[in-house]
Amino acid sequence: MSSASEVRHFLSILDLDREEHLGLIERAIELKAMQYAGEIYEPLKNRTLGMIFEKSSTRTRVAFEVAMVQFGGAAIFLSPRDTQLGRGEPVEDSARVVSRMVDCVMIRTYSHALVERFAHHARVPVINALTDRHHPCQLLADMQTYREHRGSIQGRNVAWIGDGNNMCHSYIETARRYRFKLRIACPKGYEPDAEILSANSEWAEVVDSPQEAATGADLLVTDVWASMGQEEEAETRHRVFEPYQVNTQLMSLTADDALFMHCLPAHRGEEVTAEVIDGPKSVVWDEAENRLHAQKALLEFLLTGAR
Ligand code: CP
Ligand code: NVA
Repeated sequence: MSSASEVRHFLSILDLDREEHLGLIERAIELKAMQYAGEIYEPLKNRTLGMIFEKSSTRTRVAFEVAMVQFGGAAIFLSPRDTQLGRGEPVEDSARVVSRMVDCVMIRTYSHALVERFAHHARVPVINALTDRHHPCQLLADMQTYREHRGSIQGRNVAWIGDGNNMCHSYIETARRYRFKLRIACPKGYEPDAEILSANSEWAEVVDSPQEAATGADLLVTDVWASMGQEEEAETRHRVFEPYQVNTQLMSLTADDALFMHCLPAHRGEEVTAEVIDGPKSVVWDEAENRLHAQKALLEFLLTGAR
């Protein structure tokens, strides 16, 4: 059994160094090819992933569950509605107990600090499956998708259009690890966290308009205007974010071979038009599928030490 200090967690993009990230993306591509070839590969036989979901999920849950099945292990879904976590058992105690039984834990919740506390008290790797501050698993899939379609993203221009939210934060940190330039366009008052931005100012900047961010971009990314937990702000946000809609006009400013990504779920006619998300530059279905392959690479990395 490993001691707490040896355990690697994946709570944000910066928890892996550049070489580890690049290796992980190549491995995800390899694992995808193996799966397509029907190769049975079960490095996690008899191992268990605990999945704590305090927010809804389609992609993340399906990807992690299927990953564990394909790897010969098992996943158990733990909803705070049915566990003692939802009835006030301290996070620290839950972490100690759950991590004595399972081999890895993934958590989707609101507070990033809660995931950090859980990880601090866990004996096994903890994966951030989305918090209000970061969504690093999604970025692994996005980087795999860009690599598959266009090769290395190093030195490319990426446009983030919309909310300075969890996805935007993870994009900022990814810009640093993968060495691309990120231009962020968001309404006043909805900018990304100033600390995250200033720590990565060599790689990411906030620009004045969506047009400025989109011009010449090799990859353009957006996300919902109201994230999970912000349902009550939805109406105000819709008014404020309207000029930030990703439509054909905005996409026409990007490079000819630019890609469009969206972590999904998407709202056609709000943050993105149907013409764009269902159009020729969009790779959102590959991006969604790659959640499976990238998360398999992540589980293998954290649980078997494969590098
Ligand atoms: N993109 C993403 O994380 O999707 P889910 O909310 O469906 O997991
Ligand atoms: N920003 C979105 C991402 C969903 C996958 C949210 O947090 O709801």
